Amino acid sequence: MRLGVELGGLRLKNPLIAASGTFGYGVEYEGILDLSLLGGVVSKGLYLEPRDGCPVPRIVETPSGLLNAIGLQGIGIRAFVRDVLPRLARYETALIVNVCGDTVEEYAEVARIADVPGVAALEVNISCPNVKKGGIAFGGDPRMTHEVVSAVRKATRLPVIPKLSPNVTDVSVFARVCEEAGADALSCINTLLGLAIDVERRVPRLAFGTGGLSGPAIRPIAVRMAWQAARAVRIPVIGIGGITSTEDALEFLVAGCRAVQVGTANFVDPGIYARILAGFESYLQRHRLESIGEVVGSLRFPDGEAPGGPGA
Ligand SMILES: Cc1cc2nc3c(=O)[nH]c(=O)nc-3n(C[C@H](O)[C@H](O)[C@H](O)COP(=O)(O)O)c2cc1C
Repeated sequence: MRLGVELGGLRLKNPLIAASGTFGYGVEYEGILDLSLLGGVVSKGLYLEPRDGCPVPRIVETPSGLLNAIGLQGIGIRAFVRDVLPRLARYETALIVNVCGDTVEEYAEVARIADVPGVAALEVNISCPNVKKGGIAFGGDPRMTHEVVSAVRKATRLPVIPKLSPNVTDVSVFARVCEEAGADALSCINTLLGLAIDVERRVPRLAFGTGGLSGPAIRPIAVRMAWQAARAVRIPVIGIGGITSTEDALEFLVAGCRAVQVGTANFVDPGIYARILAGFESYLQRHRLESIGEVVGSLRFPDGEAPGGPGA
């Protein structure tokens, strides 16, 4: 009860969610941890059809980070609904489908097919930097963002959660556009566009060329952007980026996020979710708080005013 949160029509038993693309479709982790521990699980990105993704190498380690260009490899939404969803039904966790598309129509169609019992919400991936069409091409343009989010909104009754890109100048503009287009909540942020170079061969270290940077290296940027997004809109924000501990997760909550997602850190230690949850409980006790909701948006600036003025 103390850890329960409400995200625009989506009720989670706790604010901890496994991030898209870092937790497979959930079933891959069945023997490793109890999925019912989690407030929610976001699937890998799903298009209408199966996809091979980018050629290898697709992953490179960087200082305190990971650069990836997977290119949204996946089984397609129909196979997910038919083969994977029934296996996840036994877990008490909210299943969120990460919706992708090359066109606005494809996003809407994936959303329509995903609107079945067992799916709790749709996260709209308009921010993947590793595809030639869709992804960031939509999430980097306010007009396209509006078009995609409105189309998904019309295609489903499920809560719609656009996932914002950090590869923009002012994230609050995109947060507001999503809210206007009917989003119920926002995920913030996806990976930052990066480039790692093999200087001996003088070629990119990823086959795709550029990639998306994740992990602790991006956390302060992610916290700043999630804070900006949360100030800009009334709908709840889910903070994502570089979380490796309870304290990291709390940064996002204090900054105004109602929930968080953990991605890259899960590759290092899938036990991270249980540790973060135990840490939330002891933080509430130590600070004599009744519920995790009291932490949300509790950030104070020393002189009483945030940089950039009050509110957004
Ligand atoms: C290998 C990998 C695959 C990812 N695949 C997806 C994806 O399919 N859809 C999506 O919206 N985000 C995807 N992401 C982005 C993550 O969900 C998350 O937004 C990002 O990694 C930042 O969080 P982190 O630092 O905790 O990993 C992927 C990230 C990684 C590292």
